[in-house]
Amino acid sequence: MLKKPKHFLSITDLSINEIWKILTLAKKLKSSPLSKYNKLLSNRTMVMIFEKPSLRTRLSFEIGMTQLGGHAIYLAPGDIKMGERESVADVAKVTSRMANIIMARVFEHSTIEELAANSSVPVINGLSNLEHPCQILADLMTIWEVKKKLEGLKIAYVGDCENNVTHSFALASKVLGFEFAAAGPRGYWMKSGILKKSGAIQGVYSEDTVRGANVVITDTWISMGDEKEKKERVTKLSSYQVNKKLMDIAKKDAIFMHCLPAYRGYEVTSEVIDGSQSVVFQEAENRLHSQKALILFLLDKLI
Ligand code: CP
Ligand code: NVA
Repeated sequence: MLKKPKHFLSITDLSINEIWKILTLAKKLKSSPLSKYNKLLSNRTMVMIFEKPSLRTRLSFEIGMTQLGGHAIYLAPGDIKMGERESVADVAKVTSRMANIIMARVFEHSTIEELAANSSVPVINGLSNLEHPCQILADLMTIWEVKKKLEGLKIAYVGDCENNVTHSFALASKVLGFEFAAAGPRGYWMKSGILKKSGAIQGVYSEDTVRGANVVITDTWISMGDEKEKKERVTKLSSYQVNKKLMDIAKKDAIFMHCLPAYRGYEVTSEVIDGSQSVVFQEAENRLHSQKALILFLLDKLI
């Protein structure tokens, strides 16, 4: 019987040991000359299906495959009209007969699950409405680089909490043993199932949430797909901006993180995101290293 492929749809698809294996390999890849690992994936192809725009996810996967000696094919939103021109299941069946690995950025989380259920090769969630697990791998790597540990840290998230980044972070906290607390207005809280499963803390007061935090995180108030609610969201979330006053409540050496793209003047001020506590570009670069490690893990090519 054919071996079932490993998929990465949720951060909970990885055990604590697997996360540390991937982060350790990511660190090794980051510090090694590119020429050392540039043949590991020769003749291997990743197909990248995008239902939404992207800068970091596309770049990091495509460049990552190139650096490992493989190739990536970009299917832009509208190219294959998945679910419209043909079913999600048929897309997965056809693609997995040719490609070695699939990455997809989708609206509905059920779409990525359907792709995985019908694929004979690993499927990676490059963002769904529910989770953004690749982002969290890069974030964990960044926090580990700066703080030298993950366990025992307090990570505070402020803003729109019913959000893919927040959900994946909350779930990661349970696996890795750090505290995750989120603050946002009622109606913009983490999904109750995720909140329960993760043991994270959800509240309305930014100050209480951020007090004593080692890491302060936010994300856009208007995620892809929420554009029609812009006016309402800006009104309801306006008191949840990460600004200097809020950062000053966190630990003195707290870092600021944001998955990007950022909307300065909304969820974060320029002063904070462009200031000395911000690690957002290190975080963005780590998408590349952590995902190269993830691909090698999923393809059973751990070195
Ligand atoms: N952080 C992130 O996923 O960025 P993109 O939407 O540009 O891929
Ligand atoms: N929460 C954001 C993340 C963008 C990388 C969104 O879904 O649009």
